[in-house]
Order: sequence, then C-alpha cells, then structure tokens
Amino acid sequence: MKKILVWSLFTRLSHLLMMVFMLAVFLTPEVKQLLSLHVALGYALAVLFGMRIVWGLMDVRYSKFKDFSFKIADLKAYMFSIFGRKKEYIGHNPASSYAILAMIALTLLAVLSGAMAYGVKEGMGVFSFLNQTLFRDMKLFKEVHEFFANALMFVIFAHIAGVLLDKFLHKSSTLMSMVDGLKQSEEKGLALSFFQKIVGIFWIGFSIFTLVYLLLTPRSFLMADGNIKIDYAKEHKVFYKECISCHTLFPPFLLPSSSWVGMMDTLKDHFGDDASLDEDATLSIKEFLVKNSAEFSTKESAFRILESMDKDKTYLAITETPFWKKRHKKIDKKIFEREDIGKPSNCKACHDNIENGLLNNRDIRML
Ligand code: HEC
Ligand code: HEC
Repeated sequence: MKKILVWSLFTRLSHLLMMVFMLAVFLTPEVKQLLSLHVALGYALAVLFGMRIVWGLMDVRYSKFKDFSFKIADLKAYMFSIFGRKKEYIGHNPASSYAILAMIALTLLAVLSGAMAYGVKEGMGVFSFLNQTLFRDMKLFKEVHEFFANALMFVIFAHIAGVLLDKFLHKSSTLMSMVDGLKQSEEKGLALSFFQKIVGIFWIGFSIFTLVYLLLTPRSFLMADGNIKIDYAKEHKVFYKECISCHTLFPPFLLPSSSWVGMMDTLKDHFGDDASLDEDATLSIKEFLVKNSAEFSTKESAFRILESMDKDKTYLAITETPFWKKRHKKIDKKIFEREDIGKPSNCKACHDNIENGLLNNRDIRML
C-alpha cells in the first residue's frame, strides 16, 4: 500500500485553529475581564465552522459531506465493533461524521445564543438592543448559551475519546493523519483545484482576521458597547457636586428607591458623617435618585442587586447588598486595604468609568 494525501493543508490548519480556539473559549469565562476575548473567539469559531460547511459542500475528496457515512446501520456496526475488529475508513467514519455535524451545529448555536446573551445581559454587540426589552430574561439567555456550550463540550470529549481509542486500541494512523494529512490506501489521493485552494486560504485567513480585528476594534458592530456613558454633571449638577465630594459618585441605578429615600432623609447622620444639605437640594437630589433607581434600569448590575435583596430590609449601602457581597467575596480583604484602594466603597479604584454609569467587565482593573 502507498501513502496518499487525505486531509489538505487547509483542513489540517483549520483543525488546529479549532482546537486552540475551543480550548481558549472554554477557559476564558473563568476570568470576568476576558469577556471580550471570549466573544472574539466565539465569532472566530463561527467563521471556522461556518466555512467548514462551505468546504463540505465543495467537491473536496474525503472532506465533502457526500463522502461522510450517515447510514445508521453503518454507525451501529461501527460502534459495536469499537473493541473488536473494525472496518477502516479512509475519510470520516460514521461516528466522526455525526460528531462533525454535531460540532458544526452546536458551535453555531452556541455563538448565536452567546451573542444574544451578550446583548441582553451586558447591552453589548449586535443584539444590544434586546437589553431594553428582555433584560428580565437575562438568566434564561445565559442558560441557553451554557446548554449549547456544554453539549458542544460533551461532543468534543466523545470525539477525542474516539480518536484516542482508535490510536491505542487499533493502532490507527488517524491521529497522525491530522498532522501530516497522509493515510495508507490504494485509493487515489486528494488533489485540490485552484479555486478550492483560494477558498482554503480564505477559510484560514478570515477566521484569524476576525479574531484579531475584533480584539483591536472594540467598537466594531459585533462587540460595540450599547451602554452610553452618562455625564452626571450634566444630568443633575447638584447631585454631582454634593455626592462626589467625599467618595465615588455611586450611579443611582445601583440601589432601589427605598434606599435612596432612606438615605436622603438621614443625611445628618450619613455613615457617621454630616452630609446634610439645604431642603431644596435634598429634595431635588432625592427626586433624581428615585427617578433613576434600580427599579427603572435595564442594567445587569441593577437587576441583579435588586433581585438579591431581602424584600423586607432597607439597604443603605451597595456594599451591604447580597449581590455585591457575592461578587466581591473572592477578593482578599488585604486588597481592599491596599493604599491605592483603601475601602470597599472606593469602587472607582477597581471599576473604570463607574462614575459615568458604566460597569463593563473589561473596565474591571486587574488587581
Ligand atoms: C461629608 C462626606 C459625604 C458626603 C457629602 C456624601 N457622603 Fe456618602 N458616604 C460618606 C461616608 C463616610 C460613607 C461610608 C462609606 C465610605 O467610607 O465610603 C458614605 C457612604 C455612602 C454610600 C454607601 C456606599 C457603600 O458602601 O455601598 C452611598 C450609597 C452614599 N454614601 C451616597 C451618597 C450620596 C447619594 C451623597 C450625596 C447626597 C453622599 N453620599 C454624600 C460620606 C459622604
Ligand atoms: C478591590 C477592587 C474592587 C472594588 C473596590 C470594587 N469592586 Fe466591584 N468588582 C471587582 C472585581 C474584581 C469584580 C469581578 C468579580 C468576578 O470575577 O466575579 C467586580 C464585580 C462587580 C460587579 C459585577 C459585574 C458583573 O458584570 O457581574 C459589580 C456590579 C460591581 N463590582 C460593583 C461595585 C461597586 C458598586 C463598588 C463600590 C461600592 C465596587 N464594585 C467596588 C473589584 C472591585
């Protein structure tokens, strides 16, 4: 038998990129600040897998969908013979045929649902407009995204398990063929046409371009921030002047109206300080705070803070709310005491742009 080319350079390169991007996209949700990278990787994967469909529809030997084995009888026979003697497939065996189709479909669904969750939850990207109407369902969108991501991870693990089984049980050359593209066969090998080579170059190039472009262009339509900076000095001059003099200017949407009323009625003893103002100023600020309180906001932080509260309790501090406590639990107490931070209520030491009403993940400083 001779060695023939089965997997083109583009198939092997795309496979390598898929592995690297997949690993990264599953690791990035662990760190809040890396959300932009996670989203950019998602879109790059959508390009890789979307182009795999184009590749499968073209007349590329072994890679085209027509050469896949989708017969249920073949799949059954293949699965039952896993631990025994197995028929050798030059192209994709029945199990990997199904796995590839499932990975393409699940990747595209995971990216679409992820983009929607990004819009609904964070007010970011192409679906940022959904935040206004659907913010109450942000958890649902996140769960749907996680469902597709978990299903995808499951298929990937099954696929890897299959390849390893092949390698160690059957001493098959499949694993190596993903590196050098070669397999032993009497069949005629693969040869790409000029047009197919152009598509192959576009496949690899476009996915890498997508990742790099999105990372370098935070304002691109796929990742643009739908949250507009609020200029509180313009919105309400007195609030801005009075409430920024001792600490961070806390955006009104971070507490409900009951908290603001309670606070504005007790400014004489404001956390041990006398922050009292004349009656007009007090009334005017109170009105502004109530009008812009958490109940009237579509922002994730407002929604989550409100949701976390014990309904019978009046919270006078953001740092006392269960959501705030939960989100900052992992931070070492010593960090809050650091010279450049000082205390938990010094939000702006860690959250850039919070005084403009923005609480984006990418604005969280690395501690
Ligand atoms: C005289 C100084 C002073 C002024 C003026 C002042 N505050 Fe405060 N405020 C404090 C102190 C002290 C605390 C306790 C927490 C801290 O040390 O930052 C506090 C805490 C808060 C907190 C709770 C922060 C947390 O821990 O979650 C809120 C909310 C707040 N202030 C809102 C306001 C608003 C609204 C105004 C404007 C009407 C205002 N403050 C004006 C001194 C002041
Ligand atoms: C010592 C730095 C630090 C300080 C001070 C701090 N935060 Fe944070 N905050 C963080 C970090 C880090 C995270 C991300 C935690 C995680 O990984 O879930 C975070 C998360 C959050 C979130 C959740 C964001 C999201 O998308 O889920 C909100 C809301 C928030 N902070 C508000 C505040 C407010 C309001 C203050 C001031 C009262 C404050 N933080 C003070 C570091 C800080």
